[in-house]
Amino acid sequence: MSGFVEKPEPIQVPGLVHLHTGKVRELYQNEAGDLVMVASDRMSAYDWVLPTEIPDKGRILTQLSLWWFDQLADLVPHHVLSTEPPPGAPADWAGRTTVCKSLQMVPVECVARGYLTGSGLVEYDDSRTVCGLALPEGLVDGSELPAPIFTPATKAAVGEHDENVSYEEVARQVGADTAAQLRQATLAVYSRARDIARDRGIILADTKFEFGFEGEQLVIADEVLTPDSSRFWPADQWQPGRAQPSYDKQFVRDWLTSPASGWDRKSEQPPPPLPAQVVDATRAKYVEAYERLTGTSWS
Ligand SMILES: Nc1ncnc2c1ncn2[C@@H]1O[C@H](COP(=O)(O)OP(=O)(O)O)[C@@H](O)[C@H]1O
Ligand SMILES: [Mg+2]
Repeated sequence: MSGFVEKPEPIQVPGLVHLHTGKVRELYQNEAGDLVMVASDRMSAYDWVLPTEIPDKGRILTQLSLWWFDQLADLVPHHVLSTEPPPGAPADWAGRTTVCKSLQMVPVECVARGYLTGSGLVEYDDSRTVCGLALPEGLVDGSELPAPIFTPATKAAVGEHDENVSYEEVARQVGADTAAQLRQATLAVYSRARDIARDRGIILADTKFEFGFEGEQLVIADEVLTPDSSRFWPADQWQPGRAQPSYDKQFVRDWLTSPASGWDRKSEQPPPPLPAQVVDATRAKYVEAYERLTGTSWS
């Protein structure tokens, strides 16, 4: 079992057509045909959208993505048109609304990895490969890779696992030309972001991008380089050979899998609400990631 513990009822705004409830974002189309993306404070973990929200998370994700789009603008065009909430939208849409070009999305999760962990580590331990790419012997959890790699995944529906696929499989699905463009853009953006983050004391271990086409032009879409789409590790605590502390859902995952939650991940039961201290600690992590990366204080 997985999905939404409580499926939210989308807010209706005159002039906007509600298109889709994502795990974190609500998508609308405005009268000009543009996409209006509204980031909520929802949190997902273990393929569930949890019943507890993290205050300010939607605004932090939105503002961090906007900051990154600026840092990357010379590498690949982005989808943002404006951050103005549409007329008639609730006041609390301010800061978490992105009006963007409605793109023909490429159905591939474009993952770049500069460090070994997570599903990459599982595959490596099994076969010395990640997404079919051969890697040297002797790497451990948290090792830096000799060079960043493109490790695409297929995009799963809400409640399903993304699945790693080989580059050849992506090329088969979207065409060799598009696959090559995705890989090139993913690695270029990852490398730029990794260097920026490193200067700020943060290791960008891996991250996921989504791209779409505006005509023939590849455009970077969705959110970029947030704690939801990336693994950020504090550089001063990096120690290969163990799980790294990170700026993301670690508190939530740790609590959910601890006896304190009373939840069995393998059961059919939805996860319980988060206690206040887990919410507060998680919010603080998102704020800290924002502040360290952008060099500006959150509020
Ligand atoms: N410019 C765009 N044009 C069309 N779809 C987009 C664009 N940017 C993002 N999306 C889509 O909007 C959705 C964002 O909502 P999110 O809550 O992150 O959904 P998901 O549960 O799929 O991760 C994703 O399905 C993403 O593919
Ligand atoms: Mg998403």
